[in-house]
Amino acid sequence: GKNILLIDKLNKTKELSKEEFISLFETFNDEDIEYARSLACKIRDEWYGKNIFLRGLIEISNFCKNDCLYCGIRRSNSNAERYRLSKENILECCAKGYSLGYRTFVLQGGEDLYYTDDILCDIISSIKEHYPDVAVTLSIGEKTYQQYKKYFEAGADRYLLRHETANESHYYKLHPNSMSFKNRIECLYNLKKIGYQVGTGFMVESPFQTPKTLAEDFIFIKELQPDMVGIGPYIVHHSTPFANEQSGTARTTLFLLALLRIMIPNVLLPATTSLGTIDPNGQINGFLSGANVMMPNLSPAKVRKKYLLYDNKLCSGNEAAEFKASLVKNLKEYGFRVLDSRGDVAKYPFVD
Ligand code: 5AD
Repeated sequence: GKNILLIDKLNKTKELSKEEFISLFETFNDEDIEYARSLACKIRDEWYGKNIFLRGLIEISNFCKNDCLYCGIRRSNSNAERYRLSKENILECCAKGYSLGYRTFVLQGGEDLYYTDDILCDIISSIKEHYPDVAVTLSIGEKTYQQYKKYFEAGADRYLLRHETANESHYYKLHPNSMSFKNRIECLYNLKKIGYQVGTGFMVESPFQTPKTLAEDFIFIKELQPDMVGIGPYIVHHSTPFANEQSGTARTTLFLLALLRIMIPNVLLPATTSLGTIDPNGQINGFLSGANVMMPNLSPAKVRKKYLLYDNKLCSGNEAAEFKASLVKNLKEYGFRVLDSRGDVAKYPFVD
């Protein structure tokens, strides 16, 4: 039907008009999902083979100065038990991760002003000094150009900053006016300009998301040309203003993952923790829809239950970095192989 032709067109030309995206998002059915899924896997295999890259996720702080309406660690959530990790804590996580074979560490946290630029640069350069063959990824929110530059010079390689939505009025339905849509987009272009490998992304079926805002997400992502795109279902957190909203679905997430793979063939595409939280088979199905990255949790066990962006967030089983052996075995049953490498974005098609 019409949608199969649109998916073919996306594959051929690597773009669709806004109207075409909207029509696809309004009307996709199970047959369209299956078609996109198998095409996406074929493309992923051309660029990455059956290799899956792992990132060790270290959740350094759940203090946050922002008040995003969907997020469990928003400033106004007085029920959140706050914590932050010291440099020593973080280096211990890296030591453990390194011995398990992780070669990317993602330092993620709320926007916590405790971490001055000096503290951050010291942490980054210490990690790179101890482990010169790892990539350091930061995911600590909006900073100035100069700050991003300092972290880059201290050794940070990559930066994750989801744009959250490319539609300005949708952005302000998810975020208070103290945040700026324009600044967020500017941050992403600044990161690219400095030389980071950049990841962006959005939540699937977040409140007030529509086929139109999603079309704008895809057009924005195409224009930004990020190295990585993280998407996962929006999931309710009970102590936020969105406590009574609906969570997103694995089904839509898997379709959008496949379309992202088709639009940007060599993109790094994680099967996210939120996808695994909403559906126990979510992450495997993510890999069967074109994903090639997973980010198991390397945070100290005692803080894991505190970094709650949404309800029921997975932090044990295959989501826990120390269960790598079981993850490797599980993925192997589906024909995938886990690589102990930095897992940089592919610049050339895969040759075995
Ligand atoms: N459900 C799903 N994802 C969420 N995030 C924050 N809160 C939620 C939620 N309730 C995502 C945001 C953020 C990333 C770190 O986690 O997209 O960029």
